[in-house]
Amino acid sequence: MHITRKELNDDRQEKNNVSDKISLALIGIGNVSITLVKGFEFYKNSTDGLWHPKISGLTLGDFTVVAAYDIDSSKVGKNVSSLIKGSKSDFGSIIVQPGISDDVTPSHISQSGQVKTSSYDEFVNSLKKAKPDFVVNLISSGMEKSGEKYAKAALDAGCSFFNATSAKTATEQTRKAFESKGLLILGDDLMSQFGGTAFHRGMIDFMASRGILLQKAYQLDVGGNQDTQSTMAEETRERKRQIKTDSIAIESPIPFKSTAGTTEYAEQLGDSRVSYYWMEAKGFLDSPIELDLSLRTNDSTNGCNVIVDSIRAAKKTMASKDFAKIDIISAYAFKSPSKKMHIRECIEAFEQTFVN
Ligand SMILES: NC(=O)c1ccc[n+]([C@@H]2O[C@H](COP(=O)([O-])OP(=O)(O)OC[C@H]3O[C@@H](n4cnc5c(N)ncnc54)[C@H](O)[C@@H]3O)[C@@H](O)[C@H]2O)c1
Repeated sequence: MHITRKELNDDRQEKNNVSDKISLALIGIGNVSITLVKGFEFYKNSTDGLWHPKISGLTLGDFTVVAAYDIDSSKVGKNVSSLIKGSKSDFGSIIVQPGISDDVTPSHISQSGQVKTSSYDEFVNSLKKAKPDFVVNLISSGMEKSGEKYAKAALDAGCSFFNATSAKTATEQTRKAFESKGLLILGDDLMSQFGGTAFHRGMIDFMASRGILLQKAYQLDVGGNQDTQSTMAEETRERKRQIKTDSIAIESPIPFKSTAGTTEYAEQLGDSRVSYYWMEAKGFLDSPIELDLSLRTNDSTNGCNVIVDSIRAAKKTMASKDFAKIDIISAYAFKSPSKKMHIRECIEAFEQTFVN
């Protein structure tokens, strides 16, 4: 049988790819975790809606959830499957275990009004037993100290850490500590696939590419899910506003006046978010250009493609120990990455490096 050069190369490429399963411990069994678990089940038989069906040879069928943690006493002790409303599918039997908390828990977080936690050592031991490749931090906005504690616990337990929240965990110092153990820390603050920040950055990038100079802009986000409610606490709102505003600024070749952040919780929006944009720019002879529009998206699904893409890329990076690639993954996946890149550049770099 004649094997063509292309088939040989494809075969070699496949062998270079990572074939191991990726095991996850999910922390915070809210909207995003539940959506991820549903997605892992759905994408056993489909690729509809996936941004990148294969990353470094890995598909969504390569993910397994080995542990789940929360502090809401109405969730702790329950099977994750039982928290997925309106579905008849079997999502396996992962029992939600108590997490840790270093913050005051706002009353809206626990449906029963009570929290259930474990000690730091109990939590680390539980992680050691479950042995996940990645601990995925999906806890409520505003639980900053808990987020930092989870990163430390992941390191102590010998797991890599993925931080979707705005807690500051992926610093130069923590990165070194993780890498010295052959592990990775990825963060901070997930940038959704087509959410308020990514769309805002895309619009500025397009203006700049057409020689249009942005002068002033705002992005006002209104949402109706629990995380929007968590973001409304003044300190959290301010912190997240700063991260979004900084993330957007990189796209413009000149400084411009901007504000971007969550302004309101409106329960009637449910798990959706509306971003209202206004932009003022200048063209030839300073001619004015004004843009006024809104974008409505589903919140929990919007982050999932980015999570599954970047964790698969991270798994490959961990296997090759080429830790410099983390900068590409972080710029692709987070609003506050280790090194900022233009949105167009980071997608190109990510696809060139990891998509096959
Ligand atoms: N598109 C997106 O959905 C998106 C984008 C960017 C960032 N994020 C971030 O991802 C995180 C999760 O979002 P979500 O919509 O699932 O939130 P959610 O409010 O639906 O769920 C958060 C869960 O975390 C639990 N929790 C709170 N403190 C905890 C602790 N110390 N230990 C363990 N569990 C704890 C809560 O009980 C709740 O079950 C948020 O921080 C959010 O800002 C989401």
